[in-house]
Amino acid sequence: MLDVQNVRRDFPILKTGVIYLDSAASSLTPEPVLQSMLEFYHQYRANVVRGVHHLSQKASEEYERVHSKVAEFINARSDSEIIITRNTTEGINTVSNGLKWRNGDKIVTSILEHHSNFVVWLRVRNQHHVDVEIVRPREPVRRGVLDPADFEAVIDDRTRLVAITHASNLLGSITPVEEIAEIAHDHGAYLLLDGAQSVAHMKVDVRKIGCDFLAFSGHKMCAPTGVGVLYIREDVMGEVEPLCIGGGTIVDVDLDSYRLEETSSRFEAGTPPIAESIGLGAAVDYLRRLGMENIEAHERQLTVQMHEGLAGLPQVELYGPEPAEKIGVTAFNVGDLNPHDVALTLDVSANIMVRSGHHCAFPLTRQVIRRPGSVRASVYFYNTGAEIEKLVSTVSDLVAAMNQ
Ligand SMILES: Cc1ncc(COP(=O)(O)O)c(C=O)c1O
Repeated sequence: MLDVQNVRRDFPILKTGVIYLDSAASSLTPEPVLQSMLEFYHQYRANVVRGVHHLSQKASEEYERVHSKVAEFINARSDSEIIITRNTTEGINTVSNGLKWRNGDKIVTSILEHHSNFVVWLRVRNQHHVDVEIVRPREPVRRGVLDPADFEAVIDDRTRLVAITHASNLLGSITPVEEIAEIAHDHGAYLLLDGAQSVAHMKVDVRKIGCDFLAFSGHKMCAPTGVGVLYIREDVMGEVEPLCIGGGTIVDVDLDSYRLEETSSRFEAGTPPIAESIGLGAAVDYLRRLGMENIEAHERQLTVQMHEGLAGLPQVELYGPEPAEKIGVTAFNVGDLNPHDVALTLDVSANIMVRSGHHCAFPLTRQVIRRPGSVRASVYFYNTGAEIEKLVSTVSDLVAAMNQ
């Protein structure tokens, strides 16, 4: 069980009275994470893997340790499967640019995708002779639940990659990834998971799932902005050409040749985000201390409360599956109101922060929600039942005002 009131003390921003229901966009950062970065700047500020002096040695050690912390967190086989990136988007682009596409290859994705896991595949299609197949959720489509049978129907021996979200950032629906991994591998295809919305909120085990790539962002899991992770399964690493090469990626260079590192370092060109990575390591420690099961259980409870509260209001339209089938993301619209107006009203009248608009998911918004956008309230472990109550009562007041 989480001691939420105690946990909230780690987030100074919450002391201002703000009700932060926008963690799916970016989470808040707790004190221990900020402290770990300050420690780097105060005590051992130096570049990594470049110096023999003790500050550089200490910085390198801490930076390397982040790889093992992350590897353990997602149950990777080894640290060398962990690549530090800037964010999920960079991780996905590393794969889309790095795989050597062959004429006739097929990529299977879904309509639930964030633009970061969608436009990249359209670009591959435009640049190479590659087909892109887009799987839709089962009826009712706005529940947003993908069915492995629909992947079975389109994945064939031409399929090189299945690239799907682990959890939808708009509808919250969780993808049946293990079943899809099996189907992909039966046909010799790789599975790339966009873990931007899952890794922060549930126990993600890359070996249990059987994915080949997993991309996620630090800033959605209590780490600072500017750092993310791309997991590449060890035996697939050689199939991906790094996006950038240069310092840090090299074993040897001569006037007309170079040899890249065999390990994940060949993907980490140039000076990495050192402080941010150390912050990511501290964020992993922090989440592990709280326990991913506890985080998940607490968020589920809040999501049920939010879902039931909003569903009970007239003229509020909810999207996505039942709370048991989703992460802590709830998308809705209030009558014919513009979602941005609803979000602004929540901020101005009750200090509640939510996201509004298309949520970087134009295809899903246009074809499934069929409105210009929606309001999205998303929870994390630091939210409370009282905050959800306040959201529901403020939306209720808005509905009442609308009908006056
Ligand atoms: C499902 C999903 N994928 C990808 C991204 C992109 O993440 P980033 O902007 O950190 O690269 C997001 C961000 O909201 C997301 O929710």
